[in-house]
Amino acid sequence: MVDYKKIGLVNTRAMFSKAVDGGYAIPAFNFNNMEQMQAIIQAAVETKSPVILQVSKGAREYANATLLRYMAEGAVEYAKELGCTNPQIVLHLDHGDSFETCKSCIDMGFSSVMIDGSALPYEENVAVTKQVVEYAHRFDVTVEGELGVLAGVEDEVCAAESHYTKPEEVIDFVTKTGVDSLAISIGTSHGAYKFTPEQCTVDPQTGRLVPPPLAFDVLEAIEKKLPGFPIVLHGSSSVPQDEVDTINANGGCLKAAVGIPEEQLRKAAKSAVCKINIDSDSRLAMTAAIRKTLAEKPAEFDPRKYLKPARESMKKLYIHKIVNVLGSNDKL
Ligand code: G3H
Ligand code: 13P
Ligand code: ZN
Repeated sequence: MVDYKKIGLVNTRAMFSKAVDGGYAIPAFNFNNMEQMQAIIQAAVETKSPVILQVSKGAREYANATLLRYMAEGAVEYAKELGCTNPQIVLHLDHGDSFETCKSCIDMGFSSVMIDGSALPYEENVAVTKQVVEYAHRFDVTVEGELGVLAGVEDEVCAAESHYTKPEEVIDFVTKTGVDSLAISIGTSHGAYKFTPEQCTVDPQTGRLVPPPLAFDVLEAIEKKLPGFPIVLHGSSSVPQDEVDTINANGGCLKAAVGIPEEQLRKAAKSAVCKINIDSDSRLAMTAAIRKTLAEKPAEFDPRKYLKPARESMKKLYIHKIVNVLGSNDKL
């Protein structure tokens, strides 16, 4: 049993309460490799932002669960080495699919876990979430639950259509399970293709697809039911069109990729939404930089020569999100 506090990590409790009161959101960035982790920590230190390092089940399979855990421990020391005396870093399981996966992470030193029972019938979601909360709280680990279904891939769960969270269910769910935060569905979805072209309109000036707005009425209804309770938004990448263009100009083929406009995320961050999940934008930034470098220097074969610009590009993206979208800078 690893005690996350002994390795310098924190849970989300105080972080979320400050974020809700302060009208900003904490960035939850997924990481699968060293370059992403370095870029996230450099960005968080330079902007003086708390940060959530997010690990999916897929990331644990890809990079090895033990290695990722030690990388997070290393991240705390790395932040200190970069000059941050009081790093606020959470190690969080993203989309935990069972009690066993959550328990394995808690036992390994995660300070926060998500149990995603959103695809289950309501009572089963309540039961598994409650079971995770009871175990996690014994070790002061915080738990995120989910109500409502996002379209697209949620790790191994794939839904063709989204179902908005029902505001009339949230009090019952939070009371029965004891969760510390709640992920909701208000129109975001995972990946780089969040909306079909049919769901969008076309901007006559740029010819770009303009997605439909998020369901802020649902968010407001949830906030009324649970005043001040920490709300989480998944699927919050904006799919920057310059990155998509760079990928396509250098041999890629991403057609009709569209994300959530940043002004909508800015609005959400000022509300009870206190954790915003971003993964796809980092993947796009990394891929764009690697493709560009290799296209410009076809003889290059030292991975450091293309991973370094990729890391720089991700760091720039993370800083932009922290400062211009979430507003979590200068909070340490
Ligand atoms: O919500 C999904 C995250 O972007 C993680 O994706 O399961 O491919 O690691 P992944
Ligand atoms: P994006 O695919 O929009 O980056 O969402 C990531 C996410 O929600 C991770 O849980
Ligand atoms: Zn997610």
